[in-house]
Amino acid sequence: MINLSEKPTIEGRKVILRPFKEKDFPLIEECLKDPEVIKLTGSSANFDRQLFHQWYRTRNEQKDRLDLAVEDKVQANLVGEAVINLYDQKTHSMNFRILIGPRGRNRGLGTEATQLMIDYIFQNTDLNFLTLSVYDFNPRAKHVYEKVGFVSESVDRGELQFEGVAIDSINMKLTRENWLLRSS
Ligand SMILES: CC(C)(COP(=O)(O)OP(=O)(O)OC[C@H]1O[C@@H](n2cnc3c(N)ncnc32)[C@H](O)[C@@H]1OP(=O)(O)O)[C@@H](O)C(=O)NCCC(=O)NCCS
Repeated sequence: MINLSEKPTIEGRKVILRPFKEKDFPLIEECLKDPEVIKLTGSSANFDRQLFHQWYRTRNEQKDRLDLAVEDKVQANLVGEAVINLYDQKTHSMNFRILIGPRGRNRGLGTEATQLMIDYIFQNTDLNFLTLSVYDFNPRAKHVYEKVGFVSESVDRGELQFEGVAIDSINMKLTRENWLLRSS
């Protein structure tokens, strides 16, 4: 069992992770429609505004996952989101994902948000490990994940078709032991 019903506000040096608010919607929409985000997350360009609003209005009620807005402290606005989801009872683990839109990338915000999120989850749950998947054509994300301690575990060959090219998906893992070692 996992209980993530409490939605924290976590302040770092550059970002604040916090629950979503109604005023965030136009900015999240901008992130989700960004061609680079669509490509690198393997998402569809089709956008249903009603479904989208419904999704973000219900994130703060979710008990078994943690969805937080990533706010840039300089702009005092949302620049992305960080999510811990997909609880696996068998291994007592969860999955991590993040996206930073065009207003926030390449300024260290994604690295800090990732670190804050994994610190929070290991400090506030007894999960054994976190997993994530990253497409092979996303060296920046892979670099960020390795920097905070994720290690490549396996590869799903040709998981994504992008413009007629088969792209591998790399599965990475961060164990509690590895996180503890790095934070000591
Ligand atoms: C991946 C992502 C979360 C990273 O966040 P960010 O704020 O842009 O990244 P940061 O500025 O914190 O760090 C980027 C790091 O990657 C490095 N980097 C940038 N481009 C790179 C490249 N092409 N190859 C390798 N490393 C690269 C930077 O030098 C920096 O590392 P350093 O701090 O050691 O110098 C963000 O770019 C993003 O969401 N992108 C679009 C969607 C996406 O890719 N999501 C992840 C899907 S798995």
